[in-house]
Amino acid sequence: MPEIVFITTAGDEVRVGVPVGMSLMRGAIESGIDEIRAECGGVASCGTCKIILDEANQGKIAPASAIEGSMLEDDPSGYRLSCQIVVDAAMDGLVVRVAPAEY
Ligand code: FES
Repeated sequence: MPEIVFITTAGDEVRVGVPVGMSLMRGAIESGIDEIRAECGGVASCGTCKIILDEANQGKIAPASAIEGSMLEDDPSGYRLSCQIVVDAAMDGLVVRVAPAEY
């Protein structure tokens, strides 16, 4: 099972095993990372599941879809919706930072 490293807004490192085929959002929630609120349940409409990828990790994930991109148009580079990222085996060791809440 790929291990994803979540960095919380407090700077804590949480290592989570996320099954292939599960979204990063679901993996975070099921591991108790409650900063990922995911209020829309994963349909790319709330923006409360944002994570940040540094440059080294951006190439490990497929580019955002048009729908995801429209939710991120006001965010800096590297922001993604964790509900739209489906974990695959190549993501083992991926490091993502939880984005600060916007409100
Ligand atoms: S859970 Fe709402 S946009 Fe991802």
